[in-house]
Amino acid sequence: MTQDSNTARAILKANDRGGYTVPNGRVYPFQWNWDSAFVALGFDTFDRDRAWTEIETLFRAQWPDGFVPHIVFWQEDDGYFPGPGVWDSGRTPPTSGITQPPVAATVVRTLWDSAAAAGQSEHYRPRAQALFDRLLGWHRWFAEHRDANRSGVVVAMHPWETGRDNSPEWDVPGVPIDVSNVGEYTRRDTGHLDAKMRPTKLEYDRYLALVQFGRAAGWDHAAIARSNPFRVADVGMSMILLRANRDLLALAQALGRNGDEIARWIADAEAGIHILWDAERRTWCSRDLLTGRHSGYVTSASFLSFYAGLRDPERDEAMMAHFDRIAERVRYMVPSLDPDDTGFQMIRYWRGPVWAVVNWMIGQGLAEAGHEARAKRVRSDTLALIQGSGFYEAFNPLDGSGSGGDDFSWTAAIALAWQT
Ligand code: DGY
Repeated sequence: MTQDSNTARAILKANDRGGYTVPNGRVYPFQWNWDSAFVALGFDTFDRDRAWTEIETLFRAQWPDGFVPHIVFWQEDDGYFPGPGVWDSGRTPPTSGITQPPVAATVVRTLWDSAAAAGQSEHYRPRAQALFDRLLGWHRWFAEHRDANRSGVVVAMHPWETGRDNSPEWDVPGVPIDVSNVGEYTRRDTGHLDAKMRPTKLEYDRYLALVQFGRAAGWDHAAIARSNPFRVADVGMSMILLRANRDLLALAQALGRNGDEIARWIADAEAGIHILWDAERRTWCSRDLLTGRHSGYVTSASFLSFYAGLRDPERDEAMMAHFDRIAERVRYMVPSLDPDDTGFQMIRYWRGPVWAVVNWMIGQGLAEAGHEARAKRVRSDTLALIQGSGFYEAFNPLDGSGSGGDDFSWTAAIALAWQT
């Protein structure tokens, strides 16, 4: 075990609040949905039981209709805004009213395979069976509320749902959001971190206007899906859900469960996801469903097509050409935005910085598709960033310096998952 692995373990232990792990104690002092899923990958390398608990704790906050919130406020902490009172979900425990990229099924499959490899399948089978039901419920919620007309893509109702909060993909779709009644508020993120690394005031106004909209609708997700002022088919969530459904189907087979419904979701996605291909820009990208327009941006999420298991020689070639062009322009792959784009900002959150968790998915997908050299570059750049700068939330793709919070749980988790 390397020194880095020791530090990574220590970070996960320090951020452990008993059954769940905070992304970073100061900036994000609660349980976040996709953070926890990635964190479980890290725990699995040295404490298998704790890895399963991380996901089980998240699903204890699942709503009866299958929805799994993006934040669970297990305890009070005024270091974060907007807190439980702003969301006003009416739930116990208090939660947010939006969801996040569904990586959990992929992670549970990984945990299951790792338990099986260690000869522990029988021990973990009851936990896998229980989580399977929870995951199926969540994926069914996606099918019902975020893809009601079976188009095969995931419609995000809030930039925070995508996990890529301030990606330029949301700039144009965000324009119709009325921010005139948002009122006064005090951000906490810019009290902890350099404002240059964070979303702008206009972006925050939009985030809050959408929270107010959802709250006024009583977090009725069917009503929100009909009338929300922001409805974008997100390339990231769509690719991640397609992959997660493939993993959920594999789990169904391993556990002796019926997978017909899951197979149908996969077929819908395989038939419909092409609407996220921008033929002009020759890239996968998000699409505003209110206007029908593609974003036209090459982001790190564009490269998740390999992870989703999509195989199309022409499109794969185009994506590889983007990859190689970008790889010439930055020292560390994969920047969250194409550095040739005029909106590229090397330290501003999802407008340039490299994120270890996205790299993990891209690297996994490229390797599975047989693009070994590129997969290796993604993996070794990620580990070099961590070795050079520490376990930051994200990294400057040009000089490798850390961006955002330090001692970040999901970065530590990816270091462990990739080092062992
Ligand atoms: C934040 O508050 O910055 C989070 O990304 C929202 O989930």
